[in-house]
Amino acid sequence: QADDLQHDFDATISDDRRIEPRDWMPDAYRKTMIRQIAQHAHSEIIGMQPEGNWITRAPSLRRKAVLLAKVQDEAGHGMYLYSAAETLGADRADMTGKLITGRQKYSSIFNYPTLTYADVGVIGWLVDGAAICNQVPLCRASYGPYARAMVRICKEESFHQRQGYELLLTMMRGSDKQRAMVQEATNRFWWPSLMMFGPPDHRSPNTEQSMQWGIKRHTNDELRQRFVDMTVPQAAKLGVTLPDPDLRWNEERGRHDFGEIDWSEFDAVLKGDGPCNTQRVQHRRAAHEDGEWVRDAATAYAAKTAARRAE
Ligand code: 3HC
Repeated sequence: QADDLQHDFDATISDDRRIEPRDWMPDAYRKTMIRQIAQHAHSEIIGMQPEGNWITRAPSLRRKAVLLAKVQDEAGHGMYLYSAAETLGADRADMTGKLITGRQKYSSIFNYPTLTYADVGVIGWLVDGAAICNQVPLCRASYGPYARAMVRICKEESFHQRQGYELLLTMMRGSDKQRAMVQEATNRFWWPSLMMFGPPDHRSPNTEQSMQWGIKRHTNDELRQRFVDMTVPQAAKLGVTLPDPDLRWNEERGRHDFGEIDWSEFDAVLKGDGPCNTQRVQHRRAAHEDGEWVRDAATAYAAKTAARRAE
């Protein structure tokens, strides 16, 4: 019986079909899917903080409305993904608890500060651009609810990326000071954006298994390379310089060569020593604790409604 179940699972994966919540799956598959989906959801929720920092100080009503819509989208992406994780038996309160006690991760990129308004554009252009590179293949992930969540999320991410790039194009047509702000923000976010794709393949413990299970369709380095190749012409169009002296087109490879990433910085940020780790987690913890009464009221109300229905 167990062999048949494993056989069906293997056949579904090798036929590139979807695993659905009620299908049998190896415990390790369930575990790694909960790990990846929960951390993806955490990234969306924590990602609201750096951008939210500029909602009250956006330079016009239009920019404020666009930024508000984007931050609300991120919250929605987080809810979507927590629901996908719940289809695997994960508990939302447990996932939040693991986030605020550092037992589950969120994307390193959100541990960097947003120091000027140009950061809002650069996050849209580079961070959401990197997220799109990483998430489009996830629309074909073998776990059904995750892949379907990605389809909706990718559509909204492309709006995020476009609004960021348009914001930067506008600033680049502005004053020297505005152009300098865009260049300075690009200098700060370029390398951390490359780190979003994860450690190099030879140091990625999950990639091989995730590729075999059809969770990942490309390795970390493949997607990172795709992002670099996509971004170089965009930087040229903007008129900003990407802060990598080793970045150059390699005719033979048909790809851009680029400089060595500082993996010690990546490791430090993952260990909790990034510029904003403490502040991001504390903010999320405070929001969770301050929201206790709302959850209690909603639970009490649900219980009362159920009791009334049962009368
Ligand atoms: N930040 C934090 N942790 C990271 C990381 C990063 N940039 N890159 C890798 N890690 C962690 C992994 O989670 C893993 O730790 P774990 O085993 O405790 O989970 C460890 O480093 C080793 O990395 P692996 O490459 O072996 O791990 P994965 O196979 O899971 O690959 C990943 C990492 C590419 C991020 C993959 O998990 C993934 O594609 N996740 C879904 C996409 C995602 O989470 N994107 C977040 C970007 S932000 C975002 O989408 C919001 C948008 O609105 C901007």
